[in-house]
Amino acid sequence: MDTLVIEGGTPLEGKIRVHGSKNAALPILAATILAAGEHRIEGVPDLLDIRVMLKILSELGIGSRHHDHVVDLDSRIITTSKVPESLMGQMRSSIMLMGPLLARMGEAVLYRPGGCAIGSRRIDLHLDGLKKMGAEIVEREGVMYCKALKLVGTKIVLDYPSVGATENIMMAATLAKGTTRIVNAAREPEIIDLQNFLNKMGARVVGAGSNEITIEGVERLHGASHRVIPDRIVAGTLLSAAAITGGDVALCGVNPSHMEAIADVFLRSGVEIRCSNDIMRIIGTSRPKAVDKVTTSPHPGFPTDMQPQLMAYLSIAEGTSIINETVFDGRFRHVSELERMGAQIYIDYHTAIIRGTSRLSGARVEATDLRAGASLILAGLAAEGKTFIEQVHHIDRGYENVDQMLTKLGARIYRRSEIYKAN
Ligand code: EPZ
Repeated sequence: MDTLVIEGGTPLEGKIRVHGSKNAALPILAATILAAGEHRIEGVPDLLDIRVMLKILSELGIGSRHHDHVVDLDSRIITTSKVPESLMGQMRSSIMLMGPLLARMGEAVLYRPGGCAIGSRRIDLHLDGLKKMGAEIVEREGVMYCKALKLVGTKIVLDYPSVGATENIMMAATLAKGTTRIVNAAREPEIIDLQNFLNKMGARVVGAGSNEITIEGVERLHGASHRVIPDRIVAGTLLSAAAITGGDVALCGVNPSHMEAIADVFLRSGVEIRCSNDIMRIIGTSRPKAVDKVTTSPHPGFPTDMQPQLMAYLSIAEGTSIINETVFDGRFRHVSELERMGAQIYIDYHTAIIRGTSRLSGARVEATDLRAGASLILAGLAAEGKTFIEQVHHIDRGYENVDQMLTKLGARIYRRSEIYKAN
């Protein structure tokens, strides 16, 4: 298992290009199942989760090649609808295979998905939606046997604007008989990107980005080419790195309109942000001001995927800040690790009260999930002395070569690969 070693205290400076969005690429790769054709997806980052998705597709008979952020896939032949348990359990987005397999093959055999341990990762909205479209889903000894001779379009009202459930139902509905309306749909930019790809394949989807999406089923879809949107959470994390070190960094290839809630919070803390086209420049301050209250919520609210990073940043602010986490019920596992570095954080149920301190100290800490790991990197960049972050594979799920990315901006960080454990 690798360890990241960070020597804190250097303001980050320079320009960096932000890679494509993991959370846009994953459903789009799953969507290639829907069409018997060839596809080219550009801007796909080389991440652990992407490799797992490509491995699952290959097990289904869909060959692919991933080179220089371009994925070429051939989904003309699908040899099985059974997803291997070992792969299903490695990430949350494997549940995204259910809708496309039911739509294309009329059946699917899957297991409950894995993913970051950030609280209950229920899938009832996925299952209820697909059942309403006529799918039969029986779970026996942890295996989900799904069948649907023909999915039928209908109105589906989501109890919660779930990103994954919205995407799964959207994909299934593209080949259903009739029209499907998703009410209380998630509005994330990744949903718009999926709609754009589906329509390039010949689907008829409208409304993504709003809380109501309508999909008119068609007979078949065809191969398509697409470039995924930039990763707004990686961009937000790099913005946080510039801010927490009081640096001056220009993020290139971003879409500022995807990051309005993130930018707003950082502006309230006193940083300067200048946007022009696809460039976002952040100029940090010597010490950020506390932000009275931030509540995470579905897009366009402040994203839960930026909550750990913001907490690290506010732990060195002047004053006390409050963060309410309303999306996941277990997304505070980074708090105890930040406290080991001197952060002063008090948790009351889903609320974190962060009393800013002028300095953090390096320590040996552990990444417990993807964004928790990112928050520890940020704290290490600002801390005095050395920070050792273990279980870095969590971070590699969502950040491509994170150490090289930050080194380009002047950070003193290196990766120590523990090929063997010294006894
Ligand atoms: C997606 O996860 C993202 N993952 C997550 O990013 C992100 O945190 C999340 O959306 C919210 O924005 C991918 O896109 C691969 P949800 P997803 O369904 O689809 C409850 C990262 O760091 N819920 O919107 O799993 C659920 O328990 C990851 O990149 C149900 O109750 O999120 C949670 O409390 C972490 N029943 C809330 O909804 C369901 O059937 C949000 O979940 C589904 C979800």
